[in-house]
Amino acid sequence: MTRIAVVAGDGIGTEVVAEGLKVLDAVLPGVETEHYDLGAARYHRTGEVFPDSVRDELAGHDAILLGAVGDPTVPPGVLERGLLLKLRFDFDQFVNLRPSKLWPGTVGPLANIKPGEIDFVVVREGTEGLYAGAGGGLHRGTPAEIATEESLNTRHGVERVIRDAFTRATARPRRKVTMVHKTNVLTHAGGLWARTFADVAAEFPDVETEYQHVDAASMFLVTNPQRYDVIVTDNLFGDILTDIAAAVTGGIGLAASGCINPTRAYPSMFEPVHGSAPDIAGKGIADPVAAILSVALCLDHLGHPEAAARVEEAVAHELANRAPGQQIVTHEVGDRVAVALS
Ligand code: NAD
Ligand code: IPM
Ligand code: MN
Repeated sequence: MTRIAVVAGDGIGTEVVAEGLKVLDAVLPGVETEHYDLGAARYHRTGEVFPDSVRDELAGHDAILLGAVGDPTVPPGVLERGLLLKLRFDFDQFVNLRPSKLWPGTVGPLANIKPGEIDFVVVREGTEGLYAGAGGGLHRGTPAEIATEESLNTRHGVERVIRDAFTRATARPRRKVTMVHKTNVLTHAGGLWARTFADVAAEFPDVETEYQHVDAASMFLVTNPQRYDVIVTDNLFGDILTDIAAAVTGGIGLAASGCINPTRAYPSMFEPVHGSAPDIAGKGIADPVAAILSVALCLDHLGHPEAAARVEEAVAHELANRAPGQQIVTHEVGDRVAVALS
């Protein structure tokens, strides 16, 4: 029996996860889901962010489905670092997989790009870089204040995520990997990334390689996103590039992700790229497609590729039938996709 832990979290996280679960039940009835109350409400009630006992329970599941964490009433970082990043780090989810494609019927902001022409995946490093939390401060609150954030990059961590990107590229028709970094300025980490990229590339002679600085890549993602197949990059660059990627493929409400531990030593986690969206939370108007497509990524990971493909087809149908500018009603989207599957 497949067991999925659900961390709906904050804001629209709870709203979109409910629709994801509706779709999961329609496509693969009988999956056991267990809900964990984590996020702003628990923090306010008990002061707890992510107790070790809960982490140990989550570790026993086959996968985790997460909505979003973060709330304006909680200081920035408390939930994002203490819960979301702790999950990614503790469960060694070093491949943060973020596919982007322009779905038929979706109107992106770019003129003259047809559905199908944009289809790439960002392999974002998930456990290192500036997210590692190294750094500190001096003279806080004074005019002499100094703050540092250090980027942690290990040969082991860089090599395994780059190898994952190449492996994914070999299974895709175009077989191309673009590494994105800032080697012209970040010479320490950039040097490690560039050398590692060259070493791993030598193991995959059939895969075309390319390197771009992150500023140029940000531009090309907007002017010519068709050029990409697999992008591999560090944690922070990947965070930023995938919001741009979402924007050019129909919006953040459609962007799904997997925080994957390919070794399967720990559960992988599936979540929309977007956050808790406090500006629309509680209104029932968040687009649940990102959460639904995250369920598809989860199904694929758990060995149900046919179920995943059926969810993608149902989402494609939903998107193809949307009128431009149509107001989203969260539960109606989930209902339509679920009905299409049952
Ligand atoms: P956000 O992604 O929550 O929202 C950015 C904009 O996109 C908002 O205008 C929002 O209304 C819109 N949006 C997001 N998801 C949408 C959806 N499904 N349908 C329609 N519109 C949608 O980013 P933010 O405002 O920078 O962050 C809000 C909070 O979420 C912060 O606390 C942040 O730390 C947190 N956050 C969490 C995650 C996560 O849990 N993975 C990701 C990003 C941000
Ligand atoms: C994301 C989010 C997170 C990140 C934050 C909330 C920690 O922006 O999943 O993209 O930066 O990874
Ligand atoms: Mn982000």
